Amino acid sequence: MNVSYLGIDHLGVVVHDLDTAIATYHDVLGFPLQGGETLPDRGLQVAFLDTGNARLELIAPTRPDSEISAFLAKRGEGLHHICLRVADIHLTLKLLKERGARVIGNGDGDGVSDGAHGTKVAFLHPKGSHGVLIELVEGKKP
Ligand code: CO
Repeated sequence: MNVSYLGIDHLGVVVHDLDTAIATYHDVLGFPLQGGETLPDRGLQVAFLDTGNARLELIAPTRPDSEISAFLAKRGEGLHHICLRVADIHLTLKLLKERGARVIGNGDGDGVSDGAHGTKVAFLHPKGSHGVLIELVEGKKP
């Protein structure tokens, strides 16, 4: 069985402060806001903007030990991940693992955790994809 993707869902951009970043991306650059969400378990606050096809996800920490704090401290603000939509995240991870992909092991047993807007998400380690952190998402489009 082959791995299949349904396209790029969003590009994740890590920022220090969400309101400041929204002022840039919405007020200055003109991307329409599509709403946002706070993810307390992950220490994150996110906002989505529409680019016309894939979205941009602005991601800011809500506490010093958030999921992105280490990245922010080390690399600073900027592009953080590419998110690909899949129909069945558990099946996709199973197939990817069989092929030797490096799944990051958070969330439940096979690396799946709760994302924004009731979606299921998982991450592939950037060391297994030439420096790019890949997120997979299953669930309704906003
Ligand atoms: Co994302």
